[in-house]
Amino acid sequence: MPEEPLRVLFAAPECAPWVKTGGLGDVCASLPRALHRRGVDVRLMLPAYPGLKGTLRTAHESVPLPALGGLPQAHIARVTLPGGQAAFLVDCPALYDRPGGPYQDASGHDWEDNPVRFAVLGRAVAHVATWPFDWRAQVVHCNDWQTALAPAYLALGATPRPATVITIHNLAFQGLFPPQVFASLGLPPESFSIDGVEFHGQVSYLKAGLQYADAITTVSPSYAREIRQAPLGFGLEGLLQRRSAVLSGILNGIDVDLWNPATDPWIERRYDAATLHRKTDNKGALRARCGLAGAPAVPLIGVVSRLTQQKGLDLVLEAADRLLRLPAQLVVLGAGEVHLERAFRELARAHPGRVSVTLAFDEPLAHRIEAGADIFLMPSRFEPCGMNQMYSQRYGTIPVVRATGGLADSVVDCTPATLANGSASGFLFESASAPALLAAIERAIAVYREPALWQHLQRQAMARDFGWDASARAYAALYARIAA
Ligand code: ADP
Ligand code: GLC
Repeated sequence: MPEEPLRVLFAAPECAPWVKTGGLGDVCASLPRALHRRGVDVRLMLPAYPGLKGTLRTAHESVPLPALGGLPQAHIARVTLPGGQAAFLVDCPALYDRPGGPYQDASGHDWEDNPVRFAVLGRAVAHVATWPFDWRAQVVHCNDWQTALAPAYLALGATPRPATVITIHNLAFQGLFPPQVFASLGLPPESFSIDGVEFHGQVSYLKAGLQYADAITTVSPSYAREIRQAPLGFGLEGLLQRRSAVLSGILNGIDVDLWNPATDPWIERRYDAATLHRKTDNKGALRARCGLAGAPAVPLIGVVSRLTQQKGLDLVLEAADRLLRLPAQLVVLGAGEVHLERAFRELARAHPGRVSVTLAFDEPLAHRIEAGADIFLMPSRFEPCGMNQMYSQRYGTIPVVRATGGLADSVVDCTPATLANGSASGFLFESASAPALLAAIERAIAVYREPALWQHLQRQAMARDFGWDASARAYAALYARIAA
């Protein structure tokens, strides 16, 4: 008899292409698909954001989620997303059906009712796990603070319950709210304690997940080690040390169909390792689009990033004058903190024709930068995994990255030895400083000036396998272990 597929409820705060603020949206789209290919019966669970409302107009089953504490009533609809993924949507228009982002309004302020919005999501996840539909989850997989109350509701609720795992995509975001919020959650009063969801007098949604889930994962092995200590544990290092027996790191994969220079519909000219010379046309098109002037052979450095302290882009600002004199040109796509946006806007103004800055969220342009740049920069202060350094390698765009978290786990520093043994794929630097960043870029440009060697490096980077297979296997094995 063939084995029954394992049933997994995958709780996601965002999911590309419908709602995406960063790599979490990419992962919540591509990991469930990879799990499905491995034979896991995985169902997504998401809020019914405006981008997903269309699916509610098709026929679907729905169950009520009763009000609890200060949390309003909602409905849980069972739908099929465009593309075929089976999903549950938490339908509560007052909470989720609004213009703006999933966590913030159009001007970048957190929605004031986020504590309610993501308590309802966590509760809905726990409710589906109690089997109101004829589908019973054996494992609930939560992602980040927005879904992290679910393990608490399950662990503190009725038995039997499914096994739970929470994945930390970024410990810097914890869902910390004033203590008054606790009363609205409908959790037992004793759980507002140091061994529960309380964190320095506040309610921490992420801590709830880390405390009550059966297993904890994060998105790279290095980050799984880094967060057991300050400062990257962001105050939760003690708890993570205590739970280290159930904490592991599984490197994210990428969607190798969506990020494929041989089929990418957004780029000027498609290419692969055998037709790498065509990449030049993408560089030309990107330069023209971004108004970059001068000799086309000048190395073009790309950045696609949220503009936040995490990403270390202030180091690029600090190094910019010397960087441009190497010479090099810079194309930046990003959005985020006001002071960084302003500084990059000024940088572009000060260096017309040499620096291009687009302050927006622009998916097609992100692909064009991956295809058109020579070098891709990620000087992150910390990086749980990072997706763009993997996209870059696939596009033969050599990443220069800080040796932290998933960057250290997915880029192999270029040295004579790694070039010779076929593993070199980029350039790493240790210290979060402008001189260290510049030194790594200088190393990259020295190789860039030797075209045969550079192409060899590009082909090595392009040959690396960043598909989901190995990591999906690791998740499936973890599910099987905790479900048993
Ligand atoms: P993080 O999730 O911390 O922002 P990742 O490297 O994991 O960092 O993922 C970022 C994802 O968001 C990538 O898919 C990247 O291309 C995308 N992205 C970031 N900023 C922008 C932007 N301004 N426009 C388009 N895509 C962006
Ligand atoms: C977070 C992290 C990023 C990671 C992404 C997906 O946004 O900042 O490093 O790649 O989640 O796991």
